[in-house]
Amino acid sequence: MTQKLQEIFTQFLENKPIFAQRAALTISFTPETIPHREKQIADLGRILAPALRGGKPSNVFIYGRTGTGKSLVSLFVCSELKKAAKGNDIKPIYINCKMKKVADTEYRLLAGLLKELGEDVPFTGLPTDQLYQTLFKKVDEKEQVVLLIIDEIDALVAKTGDEILYNLTRANSELKKAKLALIGITNDLGFIERLDPRIKSSLSEEELLFPPYNAVQLQDILRQRASLAFVPGVLEDGVIEKAAALAAQEHGDARRALDLLRVAGELAERAAEAKVTIKHVDAAQDKIDQDRVLEIVKSQARQSQAVLWAIIQATEGKKAVESGHVFDAYNKICIAHGLKPLTQRRVSDLIAELDLFGIINTKVISRGRGGRTRLISTNLSSLTLTKLKNTLMEIFI
Ligand SMILES: Nc1ncnc2c1ncn2[C@@H]1O[C@H](COP(=O)(O)OP(=O)(O)OP(=O)(O)O)[C@@H](O)[C@H]1O
Ligand SMILES: [Mg+2]
Repeated sequence: MTQKLQEIFTQFLENKPIFAQRAALTISFTPETIPHREKQIADLGRILAPALRGGKPSNVFIYGRTGTGKSLVSLFVCSELKKAAKGNDIKPIYINCKMKKVADTEYRLLAGLLKELGEDVPFTGLPTDQLYQTLFKKVDEKEQVVLLIIDEIDALVAKTGDEILYNLTRANSELKKAKLALIGITNDLGFIERLDPRIKSSLSEEELLFPPYNAVQLQDILRQRASLAFVPGVLEDGVIEKAAALAAQEHGDARRALDLLRVAGELAERAAEAKVTIKHVDAAQDKIDQDRVLEIVKSQARQSQAVLWAIIQATEGKKAVESGHVFDAYNKICIAHGLKPLTQRRVSDLIAELDLFGIINTKVISRGRGGRTRLISTNLSSLTLTKLKNTLMEIFI
């Protein structure tokens, strides 16, 4: 056993290296320049600049699809602003509401903010009113501009409601020396419309849209990172273009493009190949899809897994099936596994959800005399489908 493992390690060290600095393709890496976001950077800079003279910048609402550079640009502009502030006190505070335990409750978030400001409060126990008072007092201790960057703000509202935003947007009326500006960020494009109108108008005094990157822009972003990440010469011609094209099809997601390139490199490294090729990029796409699909499916409730299992069984060997066949297969699974069958309506909701995740496709077709039915098919490569089947079989053993 040990010997085998040692052989693997020796072999690895004998192979020519692919990566010079793999970290340059991971999410924790901050690039030196941010191509194709010049406008957003300048706009956000202008909006926040009044903080340099101690004024209160407008609250900003930043939105755009995933991987369009919202978090990166916001952090970059705030840290540059802090550098430029010289005498004046500017304090950016960044919170990501998707992070577990950060913003699960109003209490947690307020306690977290206070901690950032150097005030420790107990994890539970105090009335939230008191926390707000302590927070405002702490912020107001000196003349400063606090920039509160609330990333993934939709997750905060989903978990705690919008009360907290209402209270924070009202904070300035309580402050005498300090100012507080909010920068809310989301990739949920319908979020702002769903907000209470009073909160909406104060949160989005300014709005900034981050459009998706196109394939050419993604190439520039990838080239910059690839030159740091890979040993010179290991990327075959066309690899960057391929990764950029795939990510652009997805929806212009830079994170996806970087992941594709990193995973392609890892696959080449594991196969002890000297070059990263287009073939590796295709395989990377498959692998990332697989990981994503399996992760989603594993985290679903048993009923949703049963519906997916029914769809897979009903579509076996066919391109698509009508929803009736799926219901039949679903009912059989319920009986076999002691699940209480849901109503057709609930099952339809679960089917729609699987469609939203991109795991299946559904299409409504008319069938004579005004009758309509839904055609359902899976939306996965054969490799992903096989892995998924194995996973579901383990669940419904
Ligand atoms: N213009 C760019 N230049 C260089 N790297 C970029 C650029 N835009 C995005 N990236 C990189 O792509 C990844 C995703 O960017 P970021 O996290 O800012 O996206 P986001 O819009 O906040 O996405 P989400 O909505 O999913 O949070 C990061 O690793 C970031 O460094
Ligand atoms: Mg982000």
